[in-house]
Amino acid sequence: MQNQLLAGKKGIIFGALDESSIAWKVALQCHEAGAEFILTNAPIALRMGVINQLAEKTNSEVVPCDVTSNDDMNALIDAAIEKFGKVDFILHSVGMSLNIRKNKPYTGLNYDFMHKTFDISAISLHRLLQTCYEKDAINEWGSVVALTYIAAQRTFPDYSEMAESKSLLESITRSFGYHYGVKNKVRVNSISQSPTMTTAGSGVGGFDAFIDYAEKMSPLGNATADDCAAYCVSLFSDLTRMVTMQNLFHDGGFSNVGVSAAVMEKFGNASE
Ligand SMILES: NC(=O)c1ccc[n+]([C@@H]2O[C@H](COP(=O)([O-])OP(=O)(O)OC[C@H]3O[C@@H](n4cnc5c(N)ncnc54)[C@H](O)[C@@H]3O)[C@@H](O)[C@H]2O)c1
Repeated sequence: MQNQLLAGKKGIIFGALDESSIAWKVALQCHEAGAEFILTNAPIALRMGVINQLAEKTNSEVVPCDVTSNDDMNALIDAAIEKFGKVDFILHSVGMSLNIRKNKPYTGLNYDFMHKTFDISAISLHRLLQTCYEKDAINEWGSVVALTYIAAQRTFPDYSEMAESKSLLESITRSFGYHYGVKNKVRVNSISQSPTMTTAGSGVGGFDAFIDYAEKMSPLGNATADDCAAYCVSLFSDLTRMVTMQNLFHDGGFSNVGVSAAVMEKFGNASE
C-alpha cells in the first residue's frame, strides 16, 4: 500500500501493454497511492484490448497516441488538459527497436529502421516534453520520468541500437530538465532499471541468461517491475522535489560492481 503519497495528483502513463509491462505496475501503484491518470499507448497496442482491464481497475481513461506522431501527441495533451487542467506527473515507458525486431546485427543496421527506433524510443520524450511546454500542461514541481537501461553507458552486444536510443533519451532528460526546471520548476529524470522480463525486454537476444547474470552481479539482486513502480511513485511524489536532470540507477547495485563473488564462482578458481 502506497499510503496515498500521490493523493490529488493527476498524470499520464505511457506504455502499459500487458500485465508484465513496467508501466502496468506503475499504474496500479499510482492508483493505490491516490493518483488519477490517463493511460496511453500506440493505437496498434490498444487493439489488443488488454489495457481496458487496467483502465477498469484504476478507474482511468485510455487515449491512443503513437509517440512518433505530432498530431497524436497534441491530441493526447489536449485531452489531458481538458480532463485535469494541468498534470503533475508523466511516465514515459516506451521503447522499440526495428532492427532488433528484424534480427539485423549491430554491424549491419538498416538506417531507416534506426531512425524509426530513435523516434519511438528517444525523440518521443522530446516531443512529449515540448508539447507539454508549449501548452503549459504540467503543474509547478511536476515530475516526468523516463525508463532507460545501463547500455547507454556500457556495451551489451545484443542491445544493438537501443544503446544509442537510451543515450539520446538520457541526454534529452538532462537538456529538457534544464529548460523546464527554469521555466516552471518541472522535474525530468530517467530511471535506469534492471533487466526485467517484459515484452520489450524479452525481444533482446539471450535475455534469460542475461537476467541470471545481472542477478548474480547485483548485491541486492535484480530490481523487479514492482520495485521500479515503487521508485516511480517516490519520484512523482513531493518527497523528491529537488531531484531533476538525473539518470537514477535502480538496479540492486549492478552499475557499481566490477565483478561479484557469485559470478567468480561460475568460472571456478583461475589458479587451480
Ligand atoms: N524490460 C527491461 O529489461 C527494461 C530494462 C530497462 C529499461 N526498460 C525500458 O522500460 C520501458 C518499458 O518497457 P517494458 O520492459 O515495460 O516493455 P513493454 O513492451 O511492456 O513496453 C514498451 C511499450 O512501448 C510501447 N510502444 C512501442 N512503440 C510505440 C509507439 N510508436 N507509440 C507509443 N507507444 C509505443 C509498446 O506498445 C509498449 O507498451 C522501455 O523504455 C524499456 O526500454 C526495460
